[in-house]
Amino acid sequence: MKITDTIQYVGVNDHQIDLFEGQYHVPNGMAYNSYLILDEKTAVMDSVDAHFTSEWLSGLEGKLGKKGPDYLIIQHMEPDHAGSIRAFTGRFPDTIVVSNQKAFAMMDQFFDFPDGQKRQTVKNGDSLCLGKHTLNFLFAPMVHWPEVMVTYESSEKVLFSADGFGKFGANDISEPWDEEARRYYIGIVGKYGAQVQRLLKEASKLDIQIICPLHGPVLSDAIGHAVSLYDQWSSYRPETEGIVIAYTSVYGHTQEAALLLADELRACGCEALEIFDLARCDQAEAVAKAFQYSTLVFATTTYNADIFPFMRDFVIHLEERGFCGRRVGIIENGSWAPNAARTIKEMLKSCKNLEFAEPVVTLRSAMKDAERAKIRELASSLLNPGKGSAEESEALDTKAVEETAKSSSVPAASQKEDKPAKLRYVCSFCGYVYPGEELPADYVCPISKHKADAFRLIPES
Ligand code: FEO
Repeated sequence: MKITDTIQYVGVNDHQIDLFEGQYHVPNGMAYNSYLILDEKTAVMDSVDAHFTSEWLSGLEGKLGKKGPDYLIIQHMEPDHAGSIRAFTGRFPDTIVVSNQKAFAMMDQFFDFPDGQKRQTVKNGDSLCLGKHTLNFLFAPMVHWPEVMVTYESSEKVLFSADGFGKFGANDISEPWDEEARRYYIGIVGKYGAQVQRLLKEASKLDIQIICPLHGPVLSDAIGHAVSLYDQWSSYRPETEGIVIAYTSVYGHTQEAALLLADELRACGCEALEIFDLARCDQAEAVAKAFQYSTLVFATTTYNADIFPFMRDFVIHLEERGFCGRRVGIIENGSWAPNAARTIKEMLKSCKNLEFAEPVVTLRSAMKDAERAKIRELASSLLNPGKGSAEESEALDTKAVEETAKSSSVPAASQKEDKPAKLRYVCSFCGYVYPGEELPADYVCPISKHKADAFRLIPES
């Protein structure tokens, strides 16, 4: 495939892969892109995943003959691109491998090279002239590993962008760019918004006509659109005014509440609404949508005095990627000690500018009229921003936990011994909250009968 008269595509499509990077579903496969620049000196941009070494080398030889390229440029050492470097240097021992110091250190971690292997180390801002083409190297640490650099070819105005502007999906599949590029970006590079912003700032000084990423299609007509989305994603601004409801449900009661909220929101005219059952959906898609939309509702059960595992994973994914600047609603369920709202807020405490909508809806097993009314109230609150606050929600939570402690079936003797104090310990088995400041070593949970080591310290609010 020709990119220009002198730049050719030499990448591969992977339709055998089950999970990209060991975790991402890629129903339409994956592309590992590599490019060949033909000039007085020839250069290959990056290698491919090790499962496709033969296909890649055969493709290169088909274009070059047995004479190897003059240069192999390595922009990123993750094995989906770097997996065939050693085989390449075995086939073309006279080719000079060009990369930076950090990348060469990683190369030696991954492979054993013979003595005298030809290398050229470049620094940020260095150039390499191929004849008519000049490669200008621009370091882009943490987009997505620390050794990453991108390369601007100034004669044809081509940016080789490493993982940047990549997407899931093989290149022989036709599908819209935005969805799979967003899922790819949020999942893989989402944590590094500041670094992407820095790269965009540098790239804005360049006249770019073509973007050649290491995954997904080459971009030319759609560059403005892609850059605009990258700017939005990397600055954590919501793309869509609307609501995502993410729920887990064990016996269907929490699901019923989540679906009722969706009905109420639709009845109020909310059309931009997506719902995810986190136990059954693609988590990466749910995470990407949480970043796409302006409002997120968590609906989940309390589980082992914590939250249901799929919800826990989801919240961790959000927090790790710097979730911020969104409106948040919570529906929690717990038959004897609902604790999910507190847990979610605690897990999100590093996330900036979250506005918690009120009320937090607490179900104690199944929905009754009182909870239905609260859900209607929550729907109204979600659609009328500006009325919630983290502090107020937290205060509500504390009250709920205190009520939980009071309503627990605690033997009278135990209650009497404990002086009024802050709530600090929670039984991991049943959710019982010990009301004292210091948990006695010989304490036994009055409900689950587990010993003191079953209790964990809960953070003071
Ligand atoms: Fe496509 Fe970070 O590797």
